[in-house]
Amino acid sequence: MRMLPIVCLLAMTPVALGATQSTAKTTPKATPKTASTQAKSATKGGRTVELTAGDTMKFDVTSIQAKPGERLHVVLKSNGTAPKVAMAHNFVLLKEGVSPVEFNNAAMNARDTDFVPPSMTDKIVAHTALAGPGETVDVSFAAPTKPGTYTYLCSFPGHFQVGMKGELIVK
Ligand code: CU
Repeated sequence: MRMLPIVCLLAMTPVALGATQSTAKTTPKATPKTASTQAKSATKGGRTVELTAGDTMKFDVTSIQAKPGERLHVVLKSNGTAPKVAMAHNFVLLKEGVSPVEFNNAAMNARDTDFVPPSMTDKIVAHTALAGPGETVDVSFAAPTKPGTYTYLCSFPGHFQVGMKGELIVK
């Protein structure tokens, strides 16, 4: 019986605390709203599409589907082991009607700009930087609004020739 007052005190403390907390909760109510708005704008990168490539010089995903104008966030990871100077990968999405062979030929001589030739930037929808072994690169962009099939490739010398490419199908 002697314990009862203490129990009562203990029982009351959480109530008091709880009241304080719920008051505190009311004040920053506006903040979560702002936070969720920020989260939304952070996802403007769009739907994430993950690609992996390694020393075999192939994309693990060779076909991507998208709706016209859909925001995409392409993430390319290299799980290769060869040094970056000899083996790096990128993702280059070409505009409609651009010859991948022609683009690739120009890219070979563009080491200074990571094999994305400045003379052909108007032929590209989007491209990533180069990923060396263990590196991840990404790019966010809007898919073309015109339905069709768009080629993406790795423009590191020699990789397109051995089949490092894929298709973005917009429909
Ligand atoms: Cu490559």
